[in-house]
Amino acid sequence: AIQLVTTAAELRAASSRLLARKHGTSQGLVPTMGALHEGHAQLARTAVEQNDVVVASIFVNPLQFGEAADLDRYPRTLEADMALLEAEGVDLVFAPGVDEVYPDGEPLVRITAGTLGQKWEGESRPGHFDGALTVVAKLLHYGMPGSAPGTLPAYRAYFGQKDAQQLTLVQRMVTDLNFPVEIVPVPTVRSADGLALSSRNRFLSAAEAEAALVLSRALRLIEARANAHEPLGLASAQALVASQPLVELDYFDVVDPRTLEPLAENCQDTPFRGEALAIIAARVGPVRLIDNIPLSS
Ligand code: PAJ
Repeated sequence: AIQLVTTAAELRAASSRLLARKHGTSQGLVPTMGALHEGHAQLARTAVEQNDVVVASIFVNPLQFGEAADLDRYPRTLEADMALLEAEGVDLVFAPGVDEVYPDGEPLVRITAGTLGQKWEGESRPGHFDGALTVVAKLLHYGMPGSAPGTLPAYRAYFGQKDAQQLTLVQRMVTDLNFPVEIVPVPTVRSADGLALSSRNRFLSAAEAEAALVLSRALRLIEARANAHEPLGLASAQALVASQPLVELDYFDVVDPRTLEPLAENCQDTPFRGEALAIIAARVGPVRLIDNIPLSS
């Protein structure tokens, strides 16, 4: 059965026990903020396939929220989350309180996401990626394998491509600062009609959820042109989004998948070749939605 722990000491002890009992040689960590859906389940499933012991963390990190209202209304559904994770075969849930993670209040020393943290999502959410990377650094430390007899266990952590900028920044943090963990990207999970799953989708009315489909539709349009080696025609895809009155477009661009810098020359007139990422963000009713699609042709 799945086990719930709330402190670093309990987590380390439980991880050591499980690794010993299973003769485990690897541990996976799935960091989340709870309110879990099929996207999170896919991360957990991948981690369970690839590791002997899997820990999922559930922590709504105050440091990465802008408005207090957004933090307050963030859904908290621990019981359902535990059931979902247990069904996927996750061994341990680490659900610390704010006092465990930030015993002295806001931390003095933090991770900064640099200039990449100020673009795209960072532009409308100042400080968001510094707060997210700071907690991810802490969670990667909390989630390290306990002591196991024999070899040093492998350590992997799972992040969704849905949050492409976050994934890129986590990969950069781990490379730039030599974190001893392998970051494993997991493809975006969508509803049958194409909407990327998000814990915030529950705040959309039926009409807004319908309108929100224009985001994935516009991305798929770009993807089809990329696959056909046509010019991407970003402007017409942007116009498609702009024509939806319930959707207030923030950005929609085609970027280098590693630097997230715009690939201006590829978007309009030149036939597309190469690797890129189409990224989009919009406000729909009460929520900000983000989505992206990798382009490769
Ligand atoms: P949260 O929004 O709960 O997301 C947890 C993980 O699930 C992230 O890696 C995210 O990219 C992934 N995810 C969310 N929706 C997905 C979808 N539709 N398909 C695939 N993966 C999806 O992201 C965070 O929490 C936080 O910033 C966190 C990393 C936990 C740090 O606080």
